[in-house]
Amino acid sequence: MTLPVAVLVSGSGSNLQAIIDRIEDGALPARITAVVSNKPGAYALTRAQNHGLATVALPQAAFPDRAAFDAALLAAVRDSGAEAVVLAGFMRLLGPDFVAAYRDRILNIHPALLPSFPGLHGQGDAADYGVTISGATVHFVDEKMDNGPIIIQAAVPAHPDDDAESLGRRIMTLEHRIYPQAVSWLATGRLTIHGRKTRLAPADTPGADMADVMPCLVNPPLEAGF
Ligand code: GRF
Repeated sequence: MTLPVAVLVSGSGSNLQAIIDRIEDGALPARITAVVSNKPGAYALTRAQNHGLATVALPQAAFPDRAAFDAALLAAVRDSGAEAVVLAGFMRLLGPDFVAAYRDRILNIHPALLPSFPGLHGQGDAADYGVTISGATVHFVDEKMDNGPIIIQAAVPAHPDDDAESLGRRIMTLEHRIYPQAVSWLATGRLTIHGRKTRLAPADTPGADMADVMPCLVNPPLEAGF
């Protein structure tokens, strides 16, 4: 039971790295079939190559329009043999054909507690608003931005002096834990969608000890290895 996944990236790829690390240490039963970027210079591609993973760069400027880009993206993902898609800092809305092709098998991570602060600047928007708790959300992807059923959220404290960077760093440490966990739930067939809600089937093994994590709220709880 190893899920073949394509990872779509645009930037540094730290979430990709967290997923690679959990795959390599045996906690995450997935296999990365391709890492696809719409930014040819993304450091995420270097990370992928460092681990011997196939990479595809699809610069948007090389395509006449959005539909042509989406078709090429879908072809790259399909041709890799992926059965699911993980968006790891992929800064582009997927087209309806792509979403339809992988419906309920596309995950995204967002650096805020959705539905608060969707969009490109979740960390900064939350910090500027003055919230005292923010966090990260992994959710299924539908046609709308940052909108599909939520799988897992992790909360961190936010302070009056926080800005996008300081709050973002705190959020990021939890992103790297909850994203591989969510992918593992998808890979082991434990997630079902019921309207806006996601249900997580029970595990065979009990949950992990959270004592080594900073004060935070993670729900459902993280399990061993994440
Ligand atoms: C993360 O903050 C993620 O939540 C958002 O984009 C950022 C990607 O960072 N969707 P990285 O490329 O994984 O380091």
